[in-house]
Amino acid sequence: MGLYDFYEQRIFPHVLEFAMKPLGAHRGETLEQARGDVLEIGFGTGLNLPFYPEGVERLSTVDPMDALSEKVAARIAAAHFPVDRHHLPADGTLPFDSGRFDSVTVTWTLCTIPDPDAALAEMRRVIKPDGRLLFIEHGLSDQPGVARWQERLNPIQNVIGCGCNLNRPVDRLVEKAGFAIDRLERFVDGPAIFASLYRGAARRA
Ligand SMILES: C[S@@+](CC[C@H](N)C(=O)[O-])C[C@H]1O[C@@H](n2cnc3c(N)ncnc32)[C@H](O)[C@@H]1O
Repeated sequence: MGLYDFYEQRIFPHVLEFAMKPLGAHRGETLEQARGDVLEIGFGTGLNLPFYPEGVERLSTVDPMDALSEKVAARIAAAHFPVDRHHLPADGTLPFDSGRFDSVTVTWTLCTIPDPDAALAEMRRVIKPDGRLLFIEHGLSDQPGVARWQERLNPIQNVIGCGCNLNRPVDRLVEKAGFAIDRLERFVDGPAIFASLYRGAARRA
């Protein structure tokens, strides 16, 4: 195993766990509209599980990473609904029928997906016509000075953050994929370069 693979597979999951836990306060509000048959894109270490509301009946998840398996198993065991985990196929297609899900959720993950346009198109494909995409993501700041620093630091963040980008315009990406945004909040919680947040809900346009 090379040094970077070791960092990505053995160290980075712990860094993520440490960095993502304090964000719990934002998860409940993001996921409160989730209901029925739900798909979570970028499951990570399962930190969203305690924040899903009662109306969730089943959760399917996809992620190319499989880390901290004992912690994740304990979180799944404590969930009030069944959880089916799926490994993301290399071509990025979601292993689900079109129009299946009532809700698709994605939290702090669009920053890392190599082709966010293709991934959002897949999310749109698998969501029901009246379903909702629920998201909270960090992305491009609306302050030009901060945005300039995000562009400068992006190559470094790509390496440290295992593919994470600081400069994605999340709302524009969601709309470009054929969603209409019903609700969008933009706010900063932490250093603006890393924590310019977009929280929202969207449906198929
Ligand atoms: C910053 S973590 C966020 C994890 C989790 N969503 C959370 O809120 O704690 C980003 C996650 O995206 C996953 N990821 C990377 N590329 C992906 C892809 N193409 N499709 C789905 N998930 C992906 C990573 O493996 C990682 O688990």
